[in-house]
Amino acid sequence: MTSLFPKDFLWGAATAAHQVEGNNHNQWSEWEDKNATRLANHAEKEVGSFGGWERVKIDAQNPSNYQSGQASGSYDLYNKDFDLLETINMNAYRFSIEWSRIQPQENEWEQQAIDHYRAMLEELKSRGIEPAVTLFHFTLPVWFANKGGFEKRKNIKYFTRFTEKIVSELGEYAKYFITVNEPEVYSSISYIAKMWPPAKRNLFKALMVQINLAAAHNESARIIHELNPAYKVSVAKHSIHFYSEKNTWLNRLVIHFLQYIMDDFFMKKVIKECDFIGINYYQSMCINGFLVQSPKVLKNDLNWSMQPGDLEKVLVRFHKKYHKPIIVTENGLADGLDDRRRWWIETTLVAMESALSQGVQLQGYFHWSLIDNFEWSYGKWPHFGLAAVDQKTLERKLRPSALWYGDKIKRLRS
Ligand code: BGC
Repeated sequence: MTSLFPKDFLWGAATAAHQVEGNNHNQWSEWEDKNATRLANHAEKEVGSFGGWERVKIDAQNPSNYQSGQASGSYDLYNKDFDLLETINMNAYRFSIEWSRIQPQENEWEQQAIDHYRAMLEELKSRGIEPAVTLFHFTLPVWFANKGGFEKRKNIKYFTRFTEKIVSELGEYAKYFITVNEPEVYSSISYIAKMWPPAKRNLFKALMVQINLAAAHNESARIIHELNPAYKVSVAKHSIHFYSEKNTWLNRLVIHFLQYIMDDFFMKKVIKECDFIGINYYQSMCINGFLVQSPKVLKNDLNWSMQPGDLEKVLVRFHKKYHKPIIVTENGLADGLDDRRRWWIETTLVAMESALSQGVQLQGYFHWSLIDNFEWSYGKWPHFGLAAVDQKTLERKLRPSALWYGDKIKRLRS
């Protein structure tokens, strides 16, 4: 049977600078220094009821695992990461540029860091791997965070200057740019749930951050397109598929409301300045009235319900609403035993082909993640990687599911 995936489909994996590079100094690393011990002490309370607790408890209770530290060492070992991509026949890589390395102080551009990312991009090109460059993936230079970060409209100019610098210096090596990653996740976890820096609980600020991130995207996209109209620019939009087991008017209303807040509130503000829509999909949520239910489905190591087939519904919904090409910019699972990842990917491939058969212009799929990394406030115990990373030696080892997936990609690309 011939596959529906287009010949030039982007088969890739994604990472983010702070989660893999190691030795970053930004608002996150400062927060880790202050909160690592607290997070380790609270781990049992937070995640002790999850299925794999016995397996992960030593790591989850170790404070040093809540500091990114050397992370996966990718700042120095990026060639090893690219080897992995090649081994599993991928032709695309999404990664982020760490703003705090490029502009450690307001009036200081670090040429060495720019050259470092240039070398990375050249290496990707020489290997025939298409880069997708993210500009904001949750981390901020400390000076920018101290000015109030994205809480303040007047701070957007600092981000757009960074955008302009990066794209004019490095734009010749890349075509795809993701301006902001998951604005709604960032604003709600940092400004409502108090789980990420600056750990505030302020609905108004959460709202302002989303609105300002939308403006930051729009302004950045204009700058990027002025530099070259052929660039493909988008955001990476987190989406959850909300559904209900009972078709009542209340459930329909609640789902409609949640879907709007999750997807459309932000998307409507940026869609005009998007060449495609980047979608990050991890989970679905079962709604009953005003409650979230836990359906009887497999869970990942973070206890998230796993319904990978629902990606089809997410893709079709965005396609019908916004009529733009779509790239899945993140999708994956925490699976330390690697006993669910192959099933997840197989189901996802079916979901994507089904979406393609319904007219969705799907252009790529980036699995999260290429390698095990620093999973924000959960630290280092959740394992999202296609490759495991030994925390002591930083040796990378592709998991069996990744080797299977590599063969699958080879067949799909031939
Ligand atoms: C983020 C990643 C994160 C992943 C798994 C996404 O929300 O963009 O940085 O590691 O989900 O939690």
